[in-house]
Amino acid sequence: MSDSHTCPLVSTAKVGKTSLIMSLVSEEFPDDVPLRAEEITIPADVTPERVPTHIVDYSGNATDHTRRAGLCSDHWIPLINDRTDKDSRVPLILVGNKSDLVEHSSMETILPIMNQYSDIETCVECSAKNLKNISELFYYAQKAVLHPTGPLYCPEEKE
Ligand code: GTP
Ligand code: MG
Repeated sequence: MSDSHTCPLVSTAKVGKTSLIMSLVSEEFPDDVPLRAEEITIPADVTPERVPTHIVDYSGNATDHTRRAGLCSDHWIPLINDRTDKDSRVPLILVGNKSDLVEHSSMETILPIMNQYSDIETCVECSAKNLKNISELFYYAQKAVLHPTGPLYCPEEKE
């Protein structure tokens, strides 16, 4: 088992990565968000899985290319897979932030993405503003690394 677990947050600009990290740390929605949160390590004794978790914020600082990538999953998932070792599966958590702004669940949007990318371990709808599902989100990320379920369904292997 690894000694610590690194949890990088990537997304198209302004999705709320920095706000999510700051809400997790201060248990309060930040009124003024910097572009990027400082790297932090959540100590083992306050995480459910008892593993120190290093959280790394990536600023969108978006090029027009990233900004235009309509559904960010089509941009980020192939990019992450390109940059990682082919034999080591990187479990992904698909996060839908700003759930306070939508009345209905976005399951119709999420399910096709989960079917398309088998590396997505879990999806979670959350709100940095309402502090909804924030600690859960980082818990799912820990769990995905420590106890990956592996893909339950691999469309590409189907005849
Ligand atoms: P970049 O670093 O520029 O890529 O952006 P980011 O993904 O770090 O987003 P950031 O945390 O800077 O948030 C962008 C804007 O969305 C800010 O105005 C936040 O206040 C707002 N925001 C973040 N999370 C939420 C949320 O859960 N609900 C609502 N309503 N607004 C949010
Ligand atoms: Mg940011």
